[in-house]
Amino acid sequence: MLEVGTSRAGTEPASRFLTTVDEVTVLLGTAADKADSQYSGDARTALLGRVAEINKAADAGDQQALYVQQYLLDRIYRLHTKLTDRETAEGSVVAHEIGRLLETATAEAQDRLIEPGLLEEAPTEPRAYLSWLKKTAREHRVYKHPYYHEFIRNRATEADLRNYVMQESVVDGRFDDLLAMMQVGTAGAAKMEIAANFWDEMGNGDRAQVHTTLFNKIFEVFQIPDEELERSLTANSLLNGNLAVLLCRYRSLYPEAVGFLGMTEWMAPDRFVQVVHAWERLGLPEVGIVYHRLHITIDSQHAQGWFHNVVLPAAESPRMRRAIARGILWRLNASATYLDERMPSVTG
Ligand SMILES: [Fe+2]
Ligand SMILES: [Fe+2]
Repeated sequence: MLEVGTSRAGTEPASRFLTTVDEVTVLLGTAADKADSQYSGDARTALLGRVAEINKAADAGDQQALYVQQYLLDRIYRLHTKLTDRETAEGSVVAHEIGRLLETATAEAQDRLIEPGLLEEAPTEPRAYLSWLKKTAREHRVYKHPYYHEFIRNRATEADLRNYVMQESVVDGRFDDLLAMMQVGTAGAAKMEIAANFWDEMGNGDRAQVHTTLFNKIFEVFQIPDEELERSLTANSLLNGNLAVLLCRYRSLYPEAVGFLGMTEWMAPDRFVQVVHAWERLGLPEVGIVYHRLHITIDSQHAQGWFHNVVLPAAESPRMRRAIARGILWRLNASATYLDERMPSVTG
């Protein structure tokens, strides 16, 4: 069950949302048909009303509500992204309704962070549009953020790096599944590029080189058990992971996923240079840094291939241009908020 007190973003003890969290948690572990018959009529309306209250409080800036909102969304996404032997409410209508309330509020919050008029400034010619996307990213405060360039590089301790990799697991730990989800329905150059990227994720057929396996080596170095990982994720880590799943699982959000994942690839190399520097400064075991070393080169190739083969052909369409840029801005803004939260000078 939820332990809000361990989250940096939710430092208050047990809150008024905990009963709802417990109730939804039980519901998600109930078979779909049973969950739907338990929650019909007034019971369903009341539960959805309580979820709406969490969203309202999160919108008003309540950090604990944000944590609960993202925690619940993560729990719902587990139904769709993890295999389990236990019963789940995966196909349940009420679970979907709860998920949609949380997703809608999450998406609206990201849209509010986009500077008004910015999306309208995007050039219409595909190559000019691509240059504009990169320029927008370079001018964003997340670019060369001091969290990586000062804190991780020069000051982070072993304990800081340990915490860092836990927070990063929400995207890096399942990048292959995100690609697999977002490629459904694509064709041509875009599908080929996603497939090539996915095959790299699979270590080009060498099981020992599968990227998630390499990433998990860091967890072995730091001896991080699953339970610790679960209770250490902050609201903004959960949010970044949830945004990735949200964009990859809906076909209507495919262009946003293109932007979001493309920007993730594009930002990784410069960030990982700082992580490798910290790793060497601390003299940590080489086996734990293979993933980051590899991605300094491979993700710059991935970003280049992605921009050329996925973004450029799509950029002929006005709807795609706007939506790709929207996904990119979600990634830039959410990443910036997350890195601000992680900076020791800000969080104390
Ligand atoms: Fe990778
Ligand atoms: Fe990559």
